[in-house]
Amino acid sequence: MASRDFSTIAIRAGYNSADHFHSVTPPIYQTASFDLEDIDRTRRLWTGAEAGGIYSRVGTPTGAILEARIAELEGGKAAVALSSGMAAISYTLLTLTNQGTNIVAGSSLYGASELALSDFYPKFGVTTKFVKDRSNAQEYEDLIDENTRAIYVESISNPNIELIDIDAIAAVAHKHGIPVVVDNTVATPYLFKPFEHGADITVYSATKEINGHGNVIAGLVVEKGDFEYDKEKYPQFYKKEWKMRDLEDNSRSAYEFIPGAPVIATLKIFFAEFFGGALGSFESYLVLQGLSTLPIRLDRKLETIKKVIEYLENNEHVEWVRHPLAKGSPYRALADKNFPKGPGALLSFGFGGTREQLGKFIKALNNISYHVNIGDVRTLITNSAENTHSELTPEQHELVGLPKNLLRISIGLEAAEDLISDLDQAFEKAFA
Ligand SMILES: Cc1ncc(COP(=O)(O)O)c(C=O)c1O
Repeated sequence: MASRDFSTIAIRAGYNSADHFHSVTPPIYQTASFDLEDIDRTRRLWTGAEAGGIYSRVGTPTGAILEARIAELEGGKAAVALSSGMAAISYTLLTLTNQGTNIVAGSSLYGASELALSDFYPKFGVTTKFVKDRSNAQEYEDLIDENTRAIYVESISNPNIELIDIDAIAAVAHKHGIPVVVDNTVATPYLFKPFEHGADITVYSATKEINGHGNVIAGLVVEKGDFEYDKEKYPQFYKKEWKMRDLEDNSRSAYEFIPGAPVIATLKIFFAEFFGGALGSFESYLVLQGLSTLPIRLDRKLETIKKVIEYLENNEHVEWVRHPLAKGSPYRALADKNFPKGPGALLSFGFGGTREQLGKFIKALNNISYHVNIGDVRTLITNSAENTHSELTPEQHELVGLPKNLLRISIGLEAAEDLISDLDQAFEKAFA
């Protein structure tokens, strides 16, 4: 097939209506399990020789459409749809590691990811070393040792909207035979394709911009498919597993189960089976529906955010604005190089007033909602230090550069003029 534009793939990839009673939209399979028909088909289904539903804990036909679609959008070999972004992140990192191994991670990560790496994965014998300057490839290299099994970074950090040079970090990681996992949630593959910059695996909270309507919790993992995992470092991908056997009852390794994509094979066969957490059919349907309008939603938001940045930069009650397109941003050059469409619809700014005034300001907003999510059709605001990143200690806030007066705005689809007049009247009330 001729190569297709992102917008066409976002609507059509992975779906053949003839396989689903000619339904125009991907159907919702609201069932726990599927009729297996006969024992030969059962065998084909369990060995992966035939695609189809078995039991919804390990995946659904609607989820399979989403997986095929995101893999094609991203230019990856295979994908898996999971029940949340945190499931996608944790399962991926625990697949790549074993007891006694470690991860090298960028600084200034999403709060739950940061805490999972620093405090929770150690329960499984997996530790993390964090770089201080997330954009300095040398720092990642300095932290890599013989037990490092993954580099973990976010392409656009939340809430500080910092960018990183993934090409440089991937070059360092690959020199040491380590894959790079990128949380590309804020960027989405529409604005940035990590695989074109050396990354090996992408993880998403599809709860955010990919779905885009604030009505589902979902996660995605995509594997590029050409990273060569060393046998000594990653024995888990070479171990012959009965659970991955073929039609002739030959045990297979994760590498053999999905050639080139041992991480996705492991996630599907072991993590979905033993930890649960495959994305449900209804949730997959909602993500597919949202995904089909991703390009036009982001195009509009990228126009709106420029106007909001300009307004905030000229407001006397705003101390600073963080976004690569804001004046004086150290990320402007990287944004121009890697984000030709624009570096995302998330910004943060320093509120130049007291905590009480900040409370009044948030309370006075009418067209901007106060909640923790991002990537919605609605414009959302949050005071990250007391909300999305409240699990971090004040010292950790200091470390990740998250001041108490930081307000994060996730741009929605309302008219820019309405958002600006709403901000304006809220500033007036807060400083009256
Ligand atoms: C950048 C980023 N990654 C991951 C997550 C976790 O996603 P979920 O809430 O779908 O588990 C979030 C959630 O806010 C996020 O902002």
